[in-house]
Amino acid sequence: MFEQWVNSYDNYLLHKVVFYRAYSTVFNHTHLNPSVTILDVGCGTGEAVRFLRKKGFNGKFVGIDPSPEMIRLARLKEGERRKSSFLIAEAEALPFARSSFDCVISNFSIHHWWNPAEAIREIRRVLKPEGVFIIVDIRGNSLIGKIARNFERLMGSGFDYFECHQVEQLLTEGGFKNIRYLNTNTCFLSLVAS
Ligand SMILES: C[S@@+](CC[C@H](N)C(=O)[O-])C[C@H]1O[C@@H](n2cnc3c(N)ncnc32)[C@H](O)[C@@H]1O
Repeated sequence: MFEQWVNSYDNYLLHKVVFYRAYSTVFNHTHLNPSVTILDVGCGTGEAVRFLRKKGFNGKFVGIDPSPEMIRLARLKEGERRKSSFLIAEAEALPFARSSFDCVISNFSIHHWWNPAEAIREIRRVLKPEGVFIIVDIRGNSLIGKIARNFERLMGSGFDYFECHQVEQLLTEGGFKNIRYLNTNTCFLSLVAS
């Protein structure tokens, strides 16, 4: 579905107003250590890395997304100068060796994954033992969640949004031991797990 609206995707008000809040959450928890290596699962057009770069993050960044158009645009926007790479891949089959990343982030993507349990096991596998996973999405029962759910139904996508406890359960079953909530914003779920 993203192939159809990828070119106007970055201009949506939702992106600017809602998604940038999520990136701030990620920024506040990655502390801009230049040696940190970040994987963004469901990276879209790569807005998260652009946001992090503007804030001074200079580490290695890898984004994956199954949409070729999203990846094409992400590569175009980031250019050759940066220590970033973008690959076509799905969360459920990450093309990386065990313990490759210090940090995995995922913004507003989990509700699209066709097998979230498998995806979270994959994320645990590619994270270093002491690595952290920061996940953000719209919370299913919030006002925005209800609007987004109706929008998804209109689009015929069949996707639905999670509640915090459902993501917490997926994380626990996927092998994460320390799970905590990052903020109390009622529209979002944002959890950090290690
Ligand atoms: C709402 S967009 C969010 C994109 C990006 N994280 C951002 O902040 O703009 C959701 C993204 O999840 C991607 N996606 C869909 N299914 C996926 C899967 N199985 N694994 C990883 N990403 C997926 C979509 O292609 C899309 O780019």
